[in-house]
Amino acid sequence: MRRTIEWKENKVIMIDQRKLPHNLEIITCKNHHEVADAIKKMAIRGAPAIGAAAAYGMALAAININSDNMSEFLQELEKASNELSLTRPTAVNLFWAIKEIWSIIEREKYSVSEIRANILLKAEQIAQQDIQTNYMIGNNGVELFDDGDNILTHCNAGSLATVFYGTALGVIRSVFKKKVNIKVFADETRPVLQGARLTAWELKSEKIPITLICDSVAGFLMFEKKINKVIVGADRIASNGDVANKIGTYSLSVLAKEHKIPFYVAAPISTIDFSIKRGNEIPIEERDKEEVTNIMGQSIAPIGIDVYNPAFDVTPNKNVSAIITEKGIIKPPFLTNLKKVNKNN
Ligand code: MRU
Repeated sequence: MRRTIEWKENKVIMIDQRKLPHNLEIITCKNHHEVADAIKKMAIRGAPAIGAAAAYGMALAAININSDNMSEFLQELEKASNELSLTRPTAVNLFWAIKEIWSIIEREKYSVSEIRANILLKAEQIAQQDIQTNYMIGNNGVELFDDGDNILTHCNAGSLATVFYGTALGVIRSVFKKKVNIKVFADETRPVLQGARLTAWELKSEKIPITLICDSVAGFLMFEKKINKVIVGADRIASNGDVANKIGTYSLSVLAKEHKIPFYVAAPISTIDFSIKRGNEIPIEERDKEEVTNIMGQSIAPIGIDVYNPAFDVTPNKNVSAIITEKGIIKPPFLTNLKKVNKNN
């Protein structure tokens, strides 16, 4: 595996995830418009990866602003920040990373050129921190898994969804490293197929036993007792522990509850949005109808059909067994226990 995104010679390079699993291609972004476009079109996707991309996008904007006048510089930077913020609404890491960048801009203390350098340093730090955080999430999650587990995951919360290593797949990687015998089932994850294209590719290349299933197979496998744990990532977690994640996650949580199977969420603290109380405050992105009516460029539905295509759903906290973070495993009651993590942050 290689890093999903990095800074190289004043450019941002990232894996073009639309081309996987068959082609490993790299995109080079020279300015923040190209980064915004890559996020919007899902060349890069996954909450923590989007956060890192936004931070690097800000660094590109900073080096490309052709003025050393502080007011002009900050005005242009704000435009870039707005453009990046408008790319995708659900993953809070995007807004978190942009806020982190603004937090180090102190116009009274530094010159424009110092601010440029500081933004790049901060972006590099956000990316580097993401890798460390994922290793910690992985290590923390190990204790929840046992030899012989059959684990279901949804979408891609892997190395590709982060800077490196992954959240839910990071835990699976860390469990697998313990040389225990586990088996992973990956939902294909209609309509963008992150499970079939990305999770299957990541785990297969590391020889972690993986079986790809259609989304609709999960319930039957649980009924047949062939799955005993579920682990997913998150795009935004409300203060009460409600979890927004890829569409289909809520259905899985209901199935898991019905079959008395633990349902785990792995996510960095930066995915928790302490400014909102409940999941119904999380904006849910709706994407193009063509994602549903076409598969690989081929139309599969009547022309002009009405389509509803939400990219995410919200899983209520009562369906979540635990949230695995870099600060440890958080168990219900989430309102109280997430508050404690926030205080210690
Ligand atoms: O639409 P995507 O592919 O950006 O959605 C990604 C997910 O839903 C992931 O599960 C989530 O971002 C967690 S990634 C560590």
